Amino acid sequence: MSDFHSLKVNAVQQLTSNAVAISFAIPDTLKDVFAFSAGQYITINKEIDGVTLRRAYSISTVPGSGKITVGVKKVTDGTFSVYANSKIRVGDVLELMPPEGRFVFEPSNTEKHVGAFVAGSGITPVMSIAETVLKSHLNSTFTLVYGNQSADETMFLKEIEALQKQYGDRIFVQHVFSRVNEEGSLFGRIDGSTVTYIVKNKRKDIAFDAFYLCGPEEMIDLVSEKLQEAGITKDKIHFELFTTSNTVDTMAEDLDGKTQVAVVVDDENFTFAMDKKMLILDAVLKENIDAPYSCQGGVCSSCIARVTEGKAEMIKNQILTDGEIEEGLILTCQAHPTTATIKVDFDDV
Ligand code: FES
Repeated sequence: MSDFHSLKVNAVQQLTSNAVAISFAIPDTLKDVFAFSAGQYITINKEIDGVTLRRAYSISTVPGSGKITVGVKKVTDGTFSVYANSKIRVGDVLELMPPEGRFVFEPSNTEKHVGAFVAGSGITPVMSIAETVLKSHLNSTFTLVYGNQSADETMFLKEIEALQKQYGDRIFVQHVFSRVNEEGSLFGRIDGSTVTYIVKNKRKDIAFDAFYLCGPEEMIDLVSEKLQEAGITKDKIHFELFTTSNTVDTMAEDLDGKTQVAVVVDDENFTFAMDKKMLILDAVLKENIDAPYSCQGGVCSSCIARVTEGKAEMIKNQILTDGEIEEGLILTCQAHPTTATIKVDFDDV
């Protein structure tokens, strides 16, 4: 199920002093496996200093381009991001899982008016979405509100300028800088007043079909709330968390005893006993079962499975809808079993 493929790095581009774009060569034999929708991500598996790391990175290139490029921003104390920014070279081979993710834009034959509020490296999937929107119909428009410390810290700045050159006034870009006050850009962070300024003033004539929000949780919550106040319905607001607030697992304290677990992965059946205090994914990985996962933080959606017998409860969920939860879907990295027996199917999702 953790379907990794060895892919060669064919370009490394410095985007800012602390961010790189890494591109991979996709051999013809893997073209179908690595086909993707705008907004999806790949997971990289890498052993560094004896520790195997999995990291999810969004794809910035457009579907059908034959290219897969990801943006990696150096995070303080981030083992893989530091490695990627200092060590990865053209010709290196990395292990990649095929693209996945639900934060997608699917082009259609009708014109679409799409907006995005993004912060920092949250731009990566939105680069792919913006270009796909603009390419898909001659009258489609894209509105990008993009927060950074300064222009120097802004990932894909040149690529955004190239889109502006190519698509003219069909793309509107509003930079928001928190460290410098520059003419034409807003000063501060993306907040409620930024949303109002864009939706009610700068782009008031646009009837938006969808919004894509990508960045830290507080920004997403705030922008989402303001957009809804401005009359944008919830179903038009898509979001992807790049960081999430730490959740204290208080549920574990209240759970006692063991659960007998049956797991299905890739048509194989496994059984084992686990403490209810453990999270299901942690217990599955401890048994060396090759279940799919990436972020282990309730952010990416890789670890979704269906509970077909028994019950589980999640400590946090910002991905699954109420309907999906009712159908039995769980994020296994966030779920404790709450019954004496449980059956978890990673294939049936
Ligand atoms: S592994 Fe990413 S949401 Fe569970």
